[in-house]
Amino acid sequence: MLFLGIESSCDETGVALVQTQAAGAPRLLAQALFSQIDMHQAYGGVVPELASRDHIKRVIPLTREVLKSACIDLNQVDVVAYTRGPGLSGALLVGAGVACALGAALRKPVLGVHHLEGHLLSPFLSEDPPEFPFVALLVSGGHTQLMRVEAVGAYEILGETVDDAAGEAFDKSAKLMGLGYPGGPALSKCAQGGNPLAFKLPRPLLHSGNFDFSFAGLKTSVLTQAQKLGADLHNPDFNHKADLAASTQAAIVEVLLKKSMAALKTTGLRRLVVAGGVGANLALRTQLNQACAKAGVRVHYPELHLCTDNGAMIAMAAAMRVQSGQQQPRFNYGFDVKPRWPLSHIDVLSV
Ligand code: KG4
Ligand code: ZN
Repeated sequence: MLFLGIESSCDETGVALVQTQAAGAPRLLAQALFSQIDMHQAYGGVVPELASRDHIKRVIPLTREVLKSACIDLNQVDVVAYTRGPGLSGALLVGAGVACALGAALRKPVLGVHHLEGHLLSPFLSEDPPEFPFVALLVSGGHTQLMRVEAVGAYEILGETVDDAAGEAFDKSAKLMGLGYPGGPALSKCAQGGNPLAFKLPRPLLHSGNFDFSFAGLKTSVLTQAQKLGADLHNPDFNHKADLAASTQAAIVEVLLKKSMAALKTTGLRRLVVAGGVGANLALRTQLNQACAKAGVRVHYPELHLCTDNGAMIAMAAAMRVQSGQQQPRFNYGFDVKPRWPLSHIDVLSV
């Protein structure tokens, strides 16, 4: 079966084609992405109305591009999948509206996908896909969760952030330091020349004994340090900015690392899957690789270009849900979106 996937939950328009196979995981035939980063950069963050308008402009040309590069005719598509939530409501409505209109015109069924399930299952698109069960560390711009994953649709939340997400901590700290948007890549680039031990920053909830996270206090400490440094923070003769970036990254990475390793120990599982935008962070990958090798745990990531939002993960999640019998695509083309949609509610809401 051929799945067309449309992602439009935030600031990236993504379209992809995924095909199920008689044996093995579905495979990616083609994908196309347009990132709105340049447009939002001037505002220091995503402007929802601009995001929606830009999705409208991009989604059909990207769909044409994907079909062309896979040499597939639109009529050959079996299911049109789209991100139903969570995300920006206007942005979600664009993808949902286009997907349902395409489904209606083609008389093909449609399927709404949970964005985080897309991230979670994206490592199945890699050369070395994981096997169930595993512990998942889901680290995106809005979510930080540790999960026990038994199968498609069987997700037990072990812990999550009580305030800011890890991606948010990167983004907000980067903004305080005058680095660009999105903050994660900018901060990690700046951190390259810095000393991660230069500033003593808090590791919130590190010893809480559970799998919850808290990153809001870290941002306040970064602000305090930046204020203390004043103009020196931006003085190229000093390395303060790189040091503060490296110290911030080290604090975030240490908490993610220690909690993930503790979750593996508690569950007794020997496999870790890391997904979401922060999963692209090289310091996180390096330290997780080392710790997992030492503990005899296999660690899986999405391909680097599939860590952040894309259409491939949406088509993939739809294909895996249908293949596993978790969900049937529907011929009803009325649609809604779920801007707030906890992953734990997925079974109830998606049938
Ligand atoms: O998963 P994602 O693309 O979007 C959401 O679903 O939220 O994640 C975006 C987040 C942003 O906070 C961004 O700063 C962060 O992922 N990010 C990174 C890196 N690349 C993206 N954080 C740290 N290091 C990176 N290399
Ligand atoms: Zn995302």
